[in-house]
Amino acid sequence: MAGELTCGIIGCGVIAPAHIQGYQAIPGVRVTWACDLIEEKARQRAAEYGIAHVTRDYREVLGNVDCISVCTDHGSHAKITADALRAGTHVLCEKALAATPAGLRMMFEAHARYPYPIFAAVFQHRFDAEIRYLKELVNEGAFGTILTAGMQMRCLRTEEYYRADKWRGTWDKEGGAVLINQAIHFIDALAWIMGGIEAVQGTYTNLTHNGVIEAEDTAVAMVRFRCGALGTIEATCSSNIDWEPTIAIHGSRGAVELRHGKPTKIEFENEEVAARVRDGFAACAVPSSVRSAIRSYYGEGHSAQIADFVDAVRHHREPFVTARSARHAVEVVFGIYESHRTRKWVEITSAV
Ligand SMILES: NC(=O)c1ccc[n+]([C@@H]2O[C@H](COP(=O)([O-])OP(=O)(O)OC[C@H]3O[C@@H](n4cnc5c(N)ncnc54)[C@H](O)[C@@H]3O)[C@@H](O)[C@H]2O)c1
Repeated sequence: MAGELTCGIIGCGVIAPAHIQGYQAIPGVRVTWACDLIEEKARQRAAEYGIAHVTRDYREVLGNVDCISVCTDHGSHAKITADALRAGTHVLCEKALAATPAGLRMMFEAHARYPYPIFAAVFQHRFDAEIRYLKELVNEGAFGTILTAGMQMRCLRTEEYYRADKWRGTWDKEGGAVLINQAIHFIDALAWIMGGIEAVQGTYTNLTHNGVIEAEDTAVAMVRFRCGALGTIEATCSSNIDWEPTIAIHGSRGAVELRHGKPTKIEFENEEVAARVRDGFAACAVPSSVRSAIRSYYGEGHSAQIADFVDAVRHHREPFVTARSARHAVEVVFGIYESHRTRKWVEITSAV
């Protein structure tokens, strides 16, 4: 079949099925390799999804497939991605792109030297209809002058969660904790909707996970957006609420708040605009049949994102979420960590 593609999954843990199912839903796409340092995990995924080849060494996969999904801990993303780009393999890398600024640099230096392969990064919430619609409203100026915009991530990650996988909550393998893992989805969404963050100043602490994780379980930051508006980032994984993301935009002519991606506030000075916006959000409702089969809070975006990545590879075009653009949210998170240590504002130079 024209456009037939083979894919390898590197890292066969929690998120791997979202990728495998995404690829297997596309005609002409086959997942041919399952790779995990723990061979048993790769074997298990291979058996579940009918994947022909299994290995512990991702380098064996690189010469044998068109593209890979990198689904390992954050600390290993950079080396796997750089090796793949060097081998001419297209890469879809899970968030967060890297655990350290040095890891990020390694990836982008490799892509600068080997620009042919497509290099895409997962931020599946950019495919959520409500997030896209909110961005459209910002772009058309519906809010007037945007004054403040912010995100909150309140969730619960227990001691058992962190103890189950040794990389979680460490600086070298995860690159942090709640900011770089859970909050980053909505830091990215907020930055993308608003057209980018210019500078951050923040602080973090560990309130309920002392002796469990090295990094933060609670963090806040002030934000200066490129458009001039100010904002806030607030995140905790010590809440009694399992998962609650909020994004709010407040302008001189109106305000919208999304909680769990659904509008909880739509207020505009002009009632016709308010009615149009209410209708716009109502039209975003997604049928439940396409919701993530893995965990509901991953959202509906993985299958859309993988379909876009495959199309980008087939037509050799830019993916909807380029790694270049996904770098921005990672740099915002690194900026908050740096600002905590230096007690200074940190400029963010990358574009979203
Ligand atoms: N987009 C989302 O909604 C979402 C949700 C969950 C996880 N994730 C991301 O997916 C990635 C993996 O998370 P997870 O929860 O599946 O982790 P996990 O710990 O369940 O799985 C990671 C797997 O990678 C394997 N691994 C590590 N280094 C490897 C290497 N060099 N070669 C081969 N295998 C290797 C580990 O043995 C492990 O089985 C992370 O980047 C995480 O942030 C994204």
